[in-house]
Amino acid sequence: MKKDIFIGGAWPYANYYLHVGHLASLLPGDVLAKYYRGKGDNVIYVSGSDCHGTPITERARKEGKTPEEIAGFYHDEFVKTFNNLGFEYDLYTNTMTDYHSNYVQKQFLRLKENGWIYEKDEPAVFCEKCNKFLSDREIVGKCPNCGGVSTGDQCDECLTSLDSEEVLDKHCKICGSETVTRDNKHLYFKLTAFEDELQDLIKNNSSLWRKNAIGEAQKYIDTGLRDRAATRQLDWGIPVPVEGFEDKRIYVWIEAVMGYLSAGQKVAEERGIDFDKYLSNDNKNLRTYYVHGKDNIPFHTTIFPALVSGLQYNYRLPDYIVSSAFVNLNDEKMSKSKGTLLTANELLERFPKDTLRFYFTYLGPETHDTNCSVEELIQCHNKFLVGQLGNFVNRNLGFINKKFDGVITEGEIDKKVRKATKEAYKSIGEAIERGEFRNALSQILEYISNANKYYDSNEPWVKVKNENLTEFNNVTYTCVYMMANIANLIKPFMPDASDKIKDMLSFADYKWDEEVIKGNITIKNFDMLYNRID
Ligand code: MF3
Ligand code: ZN
Repeated sequence: MKKDIFIGGAWPYANYYLHVGHLASLLPGDVLAKYYRGKGDNVIYVSGSDCHGTPITERARKEGKTPEEIAGFYHDEFVKTFNNLGFEYDLYTNTMTDYHSNYVQKQFLRLKENGWIYEKDEPAVFCEKCNKFLSDREIVGKCPNCGGVSTGDQCDECLTSLDSEEVLDKHCKICGSETVTRDNKHLYFKLTAFEDELQDLIKNNSSLWRKNAIGEAQKYIDTGLRDRAATRQLDWGIPVPVEGFEDKRIYVWIEAVMGYLSAGQKVAEERGIDFDKYLSNDNKNLRTYYVHGKDNIPFHTTIFPALVSGLQYNYRLPDYIVSSAFVNLNDEKMSKSKGTLLTANELLERFPKDTLRFYFTYLGPETHDTNCSVEELIQCHNKFLVGQLGNFVNRNLGFINKKFDGVITEGEIDKKVRKATKEAYKSIGEAIERGEFRNALSQILEYISNANKYYDSNEPWVKVKNENLTEFNNVTYTCVYMMANIANLIKPFMPDASDKIKDMLSFADYKWDEEVIKGNITIKNFDMLYNRID
């Protein structure tokens, strides 16, 4: 029976290029998607650019551009970068689309009708001359720490983040008048009402969520859930579809996590699938995965599930939380301001996508923060991709090309090798399904290493010399059989090498299942799989 697999990759803020942290935390989503597609399952893998919120308006302000321009620019960049990394989303969209905006507004009203959103007055900064509540950016004042010039949420000088209440001597940035405090009405989401349900969710999924997700989610609940403001005093974002809230926008996190649903719904519509049935908790064939970095954990383990539950569509809450730790560069935390942020584009200019995908998975921050360096990346490439995988393919095919004009004569495939191959699919597949990608990749390397050992211990080049051609053909055919299966096994991780092997040997399309080759095979366009990098 085919499974329904829903994968939500986190939506990066469209305020700067993708960096290695994004790469390491988002790759698992694409590996899962490729793996399950290979099994023939019904995969919906979605993500998009997170275009609203202060990170974007911040950058726009710094660069003297509009938020649309900034978000649009980085969204286009993200699309290119993800393509260059070999990501295959079913839909990669963004939060500025009408589809998303309409979807979110509709669901926002539904949450309100269901009783999960209520109105509350909050003291806020008001300008009597402009007759409006000011957003943090429209406030200028004095920082209580250093006395420097501050906006409503951050001091421009000491960079401390502040609450507008703490800021001293507040003035309106637009007209310069002194501000007053007035009650402002906001809409709140009743997160506290979901505490028991969220607690059960953590308990029930404790074997499926990554440990850091369980820990962070529990901590979040233990420190006491609070109802969350669902509206913000901003003009950049999705308008609040409620009368009297025209000057406010929907809180960016509420809106962004709903992107999983809006994008999922869109893909389902395009495929003629009933999304309500697909994502239904009664769909016993469904598995859902949410893939992101650890700073996103509270939003995916509490706010998102509470929203999903509050929508009362009987949608499935997250089954698997694949939350990665952080990646440091040369033992230092990367920072944009210090210029130590390694972007995915910079790496793509120098290295093949397979190398990046391999490195950031094999040494990925699955359970704790990891350190990365370009030197280590090069070493990994040379040692594993060139030394193990490339070597196995190249020496086999090189020999046949030289001695037999590239024609591989059908032989008998070693039974033990077949058995080990079938077991490899099973065991590696199970590791991937559990979100253990390092483990999966280690097993793949072991399979390749065994293939090299098989070649070495059977010495096909000696068999040719001794004119033992039947045995030579059996050994070679077994090696080519392993190549066909290596091409399948590596596809979720190193798609280029997989395609190249399949192309050279005219193998069948990728699937996650044993590939039994038949008949003679002619090598086409023989080429090195990978070149050494110095
Ligand atoms: N934009 C957020 C970040 O970069 C992630 C949002 S994930 C979503 O940290 F699901 F909420 F969209
Ligand atoms: Zn004013």
